[in-house]
Amino acid sequence: MRASTGSDAITRRNFTLAAAAGVAAASLGGANLAFGQPAASGPHRVIIDTDPGVDDAFALLLAMRSPELKIEGITPVAGNVPLELTLPNALRMVEIANRPDIPVAVGARTPLMRRLVTATYAHGENGLGGAVFPEPKLKPIADSAAVFIRRIVRQYPGEVTIITLGPQTNLATALASDPDLARMIKGVTMMGGSLSGGNVTPAAEFNVYVDPEAARMVFQSGIPVTMVGLDVTRKTALTDAHVKTLEAAGTAVSLAAAKIARNDIDLNRKEGNTSGPNMHDSLALASFLDPSLLTWKPYYVDVEVQGELTAGETLGYRPSESGLRGSAPTLAGTKTSVELRDKFVPNANVAVDVNSARFFELLIGRLARKA
Ligand code: BDR
Ligand code: CA
Repeated sequence: MRASTGSDAITRRNFTLAAAAGVAAASLGGANLAFGQPAASGPHRVIIDTDPGVDDAFALLLAMRSPELKIEGITPVAGNVPLELTLPNALRMVEIANRPDIPVAVGARTPLMRRLVTATYAHGENGLGGAVFPEPKLKPIADSAAVFIRRIVRQYPGEVTIITLGPQTNLATALASDPDLARMIKGVTMMGGSLSGGNVTPAAEFNVYVDPEAARMVFQSGIPVTMVGLDVTRKTALTDAHVKTLEAAGTAVSLAAAKIARNDIDLNRKEGNTSGPNMHDSLALASFLDPSLLTWKPYYVDVEVQGELTAGETLGYRPSESGLRGSAPTLAGTKTSVELRDKFVPNANVAVDVNSARFFELLIGRLARKA
């Protein structure tokens, strides 16, 4: 297991340079801003970057039950719980789904330049709501997550979508290590951000809050970003009825999902939440499988990285609707973003509404299905 120190490490200077390079790539038209959702055919090559995590675990199980996906690998990162737990949790999900063919590559132990903040209040001390599973027998591959992402993207240029379900440290580290990588990535589908307030602070959503510098690099990389944020994932509370359906199905996958859910529902109630947990990450995954589950709008999204109280806030510019022409100063200086000053060039397709009933039909239906 390795940390994000050493050759993958990012200093503030590197971050500034990498972010600036991303802006340049985008403004040069290096990226194809076609927003990375699947065409009709498949399967689609994806890497799933994740911090399991209750809703991450559901998303991983859903992914491994989805024939539309060719899962090139899974890259756990520190987030909801430390890497020492997200890594074995990811390996456990791969074993439960009986998919030992999927490589798991060890990700970053800390955010790019901040101390790690976890969410054990929502996911339990072990990241799975307190549900206990045996130690995994599967082992991770030798490549780090950043090296793995780079290798697979370069092997299949223009074909790989990165689905990020946690802090985006691994992807940002890969981008910073290889200036040509961004233009070879088909798209990023992310659970993260919010245009309607946060869940850690009034401003910031957890995944972006944990590593805002990484998220900013991704948004400014020129890669078409599909953002599934709290605006829609707040509408995905798992219910007792869903869990009963999973229990009744009686498969290894459905029973594992139900066990995690039962434990986490109890934890949520003890924490004073009257509903949930929300299936944030499963919705992001499902949005890749079936974009028609959601309603989308293009935005230019930027991330606050300096605010003492607002770090990790995602700001969505959409001048045609709001009349906003505000500045989005880059880290390198105070220049107003060209995207906003001269013309509106969106960098993200943002989910603004969701058909929750259809989403749960997909999620619970696939998890409950006999293999
Ligand atoms: C996001 O934060 C994590 O706690 C969840 O797994 C999800 O990825 C929601 O803000
Ligand atoms: Ca997550």
